[in-house]
Amino acid sequence: MLAIKGLNQFYGESHILWDISLEAREGSCLCLLGRNGVGKTTLLKTIMGLLPARSGVIAFRGQDLTRRPASDRARLGIGYVPQGREIFPLLSVEENLRVGLRRGAEIPPAIFELFPVLKSMLHRRGGDLSGGQQQQLAIGRALALEPRLLILDEPTEGIQPNIVREIGEIIRRLNREAGIGVLLVEQKLAFARRVAESFCLMDKGRVVTSGAIEALSQEMVAQHLSV
Ligand SMILES: Nc1ncnc2c1ncn2[C@@H]1O[C@H](COP(=O)(O)OP(=O)(O)OP(=O)(O)O)[C@@H](O)[C@H]1O
Ligand SMILES: [Mg+2]
Repeated sequence: MLAIKGLNQFYGESHILWDISLEAREGSCLCLLGRNGVGKTTLLKTIMGLLPARSGVIAFRGQDLTRRPASDRARLGIGYVPQGREIFPLLSVEENLRVGLRRGAEIPPAIFELFPVLKSMLHRRGGDLSGGQQQQLAIGRALALEPRLLILDEPTEGIQPNIVREIGEIIRRLNREAGIGVLLVEQKLAFARRVAESFCLMDKGRVVTSGAIEALSQEMVAQHLSV
């Protein structure tokens, strides 16, 4: 559903992404792995149109999105949960969930089935939630726009284990029950192995290997992931 070919990205003169190609499928979770600073977030921002691609093609459900504005990408069905969550701390949980919805539109009830905790905290300020609850809110906010592909940038970073488990469950349910595709950036290998079907391993701005998650070997981990 998402197909990237030959993507290059720069910050000024520095070449950050080199000829990236990858494909994410419907109803499946693709995990993007790589050490700090290899360009994972830069790739996600380029997919979302927050940074213009220098060269290459980004296609989603058969449409070329490469030159389309970020707002089109969200409208066409790509949801994005940025690294560090970026919820609005002074807005209530309900107001956070309404960001991006048309005025008067209902928050899809499925959000509260997935995250009952949000229902019980609708009027609390986003900034008063725990880190894990804020991550659930950020995912809920992206899901409120009913995406076909959900992009998550390190959703388990700094989050307590029971909520990490819940987020894993949510990803699997989105895949299986709603057919939603997930592109997950993750550094916790055990978590990636539990939720993803396939992986794409990046090093120094390049995809060095990819395949079924079962094929991710100790050698690959030792060479490209350990510090
Ligand atoms: N706005 C920016 N201007 C210049 N360089 C940047 C900018 N943002 C990131 N970089 C650099 O680009 C490279 C890739 O950064 P990026 O944030 O994409 O990595 P990452 O894989 O997401 O890392 P992490 O795992 O720490 O989140 C790094 O060397 C980083 O220092
Ligand atoms: Mg990052």
